[in-house]
Amino acid sequence: MADIDIHSPEYRERTTEFEAEVRGCPVRWTESHDGHWLISGHAPVTEGLRDRDRYSTVKFTDENGKLSGGLTIPTAEGYRALPNEADPPEWDGLRRLLAKPFSPGVVEQLRPMIQRYATEVIDHMVTDGEADFVMQVGSPVTALVTLDILGLPLEDWRFYAERIHQTFTGVPGGGDSEAGIPGIQKRLSETIAARRLEPGTGLVDELIAAEIDGEPLTDETVKDLVYDILVGGFDTTAGLLAGAVRWLQDRPEERQRLLTDDAYLRTATEEFLRYVSPAVGLAKTATQDFELHGEKIGRGDRMWFMYRAANWDPEEFPNPEQVDLGRAPNRHVAFGSGIHRCLGSHLARAIFQTVIREFLTRLPDYEVVQEKAESYVFACVNAGFAFLPVRYTPGPKVHPTPILAEL
Ligand code: HEM
Repeated sequence: MADIDIHSPEYRERTTEFEAEVRGCPVRWTESHDGHWLISGHAPVTEGLRDRDRYSTVKFTDENGKLSGGLTIPTAEGYRALPNEADPPEWDGLRRLLAKPFSPGVVEQLRPMIQRYATEVIDHMVTDGEADFVMQVGSPVTALVTLDILGLPLEDWRFYAERIHQTFTGVPGGGDSEAGIPGIQKRLSETIAARRLEPGTGLVDELIAAEIDGEPLTDETVKDLVYDILVGGFDTTAGLLAGAVRWLQDRPEERQRLLTDDAYLRTATEEFLRYVSPAVGLAKTATQDFELHGEKIGRGDRMWFMYRAANWDPEEFPNPEQVDLGRAPNRHVAFGSGIHRCLGSHLARAIFQTVIREFLTRLPDYEVVQEKAESYVFACVNAGFAFLPVRYTPGPKVHPTPILAEL
């Protein structure tokens, strides 16, 4: 097989085929983008992610004075996502601050709030007869729930969601793909500075007041933490929902069972996570020389961890290309593994389950307008849809008084 460029149009068009081919040599070098390793099998991906010492996610300046490291290949400039782009021991302190608000117990208590936003968002589109599932259902519910937790203004949901969405729908390396990020950074900096003077209630204020080893966080660190929470959750959760909605449209029996069988909804959530794999791949940097599945990795080598290729590895998942909503065991790595394993995994599951049930209940005859659906252009980082139009028989609103007059 020829050299592989994860950003090439061929890769985008034939991702599944490429991923299967790459798995044939699960630790494989490519010369593209200044050279990096592709880690694709379930065993090497899981092993690598669980290794706390041999990999770094920190950005650094290389010997040529060029910015390197971080989570993307090539390295994205202009922001730092925390705790994702921190290594231990810095990572430990940051993650500890966020662990409780996103723990299973706290998320369980949030279910009524998530339900309220799911109902509200569907109220806004249910009478129309057609809508874009991504920006009118999946993205706004995730955005409103996240802003509620953070204590940020709900009216800003579209400001953040459109800019985050744009980073995944734009052409990789093109001006548009990064255009949204500076806007988010600026808005967060202004909001945090204002909140330091006039505190509100929410996770942003808790972070402003927090300390690590007796030291308060800088505004910059608070911004980088909030940024990671926003960018980490919006399009991944919306992509998972869109993938499920598309798959379920021709399967009325599966839809019915998901509405009535809680245990089935739980295994289905894991199977959609595996099958869709909203986070397709992310980068790390080797911190030392070592051997991985027979290949010699050098200190400073860039490594591309392919979560979706691992989730479709037939050695781990029989018939991986088939969706089996009762699949068990299901040791997918859709949320990553090891220290950087997704902070928002419990929240993402709760949002997914609530929105799927609300959507299937209230739009029971929906159909996806397949010919108009558009996948993300930036296919190697996030799997999902830029646009997923759905048609349905209009139904009634549930809440006479909306939380937001318009979405
Ligand atoms: C289906 C939805 C989601 C998927 C598939 C997903 C996927 C991932 C993956 C693969 C990682 C690991 C990155 C790495 O290996 O470096 C990660 C980390 C992270 N995710 Fe998620 N995510 C989702 C939803 C969310 C949500 C809703 C939030 C909001 C709280 C969130 C916040 C984060 C953060 C802050 C990290 C970094 C954790 C750390 O470095 O310690 N994610 N996510």
